[in-house]
Amino acid sequence: LRDRRPIIAIDGPAGAGKSTIARQVAQNLGLLYLDTGAMYRAVTWLVQQAGIALTDEPAILELVSDCEIRFDSSLGGSPSEKVYSGSAGGSGRVTYLEKGIGNPSQIFINNQNVTEAIRSLEVTSQVSAIASLGAVRQKLVEQQRLWGKQGGLVAEGRDIGTHVFPDADLKIFLTASVEERAKRRQRDYFAQSSHASQTLPSTEQLEQAIRQRDYTDSNREIAPLQKSPEAIEIITDNLSIKEVTHKIIALYESTVLSL
Ligand code: DC
Repeated sequence: LRDRRPIIAIDGPAGAGKSTIARQVAQNLGLLYLDTGAMYRAVTWLVQQAGIALTDEPAILELVSDCEIRFDSSLGGSPSEKVYSGSAGGSGRVTYLEKGIGNPSQIFINNQNVTEAIRSLEVTSQVSAIASLGAVRQKLVEQQRLWGKQGGLVAEGRDIGTHVFPDADLKIFLTASVEERAKRRQRDYFAQSSHASQTLPSTEQLEQAIRQRDYTDSNREIAPLQKSPEAIEIITDNLSIKEVTHKIIALYESTVLSL
C-alpha cells in the first residue's frame, strides 16, 4: 500500500486529446488535474517576453530558477482551496491551487495570467526547443514531483509515466493519427477568438508542424516522448471524449481501486 493518494499518468503526442480527457477523468474521479505542457509553454512565453535567444541556455536557466508558476481555477468567485505549496529549491516558490475541479485552470507565471497567451502560434512553435533543455526540465519536474507528493492527481504530458511519476498507479498512452490530430488542432484554432486576427494555418501546415513536434519531442536526449512499457495505449481516432474518459475510469476502477 502506498502512503499517498493515486496518481494517473497520461502521456502522448500533441493533439491526441490529452488535456480534455485528463481534465474529464480528474473531474469524474475527484482528483486534481496537472497540465505539465502548460508549464513548458509558460516558460517559453517568459523567454520570449524577455527577448532571450533560444540558444542562450544560461540566461534561460536563470529566468526559470527565479520564476513562480501557479495554477488557479478560483477566478470564478467561490473560495479556493489551497492544496499544495512549497519550495522547488532555488528561489522558485511554487503553489498549486485548485478549486471546482474540472473548471478550466488559469496558469500564472510570475503573477501574470498567461492562460491564453501560451496557446499562441509563437509559443507553440518554440516550446519543443525550450522543453529539450535539461536545465528547464529539471526545474519543472522538481515542481511537478512536489505537487504530486501526496498524490490525488491526473498528470498529463510526455514523460509523466516514464520519468516524473514512474510509480504512477495507472499509466495511459493516448495517441491518434497525425491527420486526426491536425484536424483537431484546426478546430481548436477556429474556436479561439484570440486567433481571429491571425492567418489560420492549413491542414497541411498543421500536419507538418505536428510531425516536426513529434520528432523533436521523441528524439530529444532527456526524457523523450516514449510509451512506458506498463502504459496502456489508447488510439483515439474513432473514439469520442466520453468513450475515452469512460475507458480510463474503467481501467482505474479495475486496477487501482481493486488493489
Ligand atoms: O501538451 P502541450 O502541447 O501543451 O505541450 C507543449 C510542449 O511541451 C510539447 O512540445 C512537449 C513539451 N512537453 C514536454 O516536453 N514534457 C511534458 N511533460 C509536457 C510537455
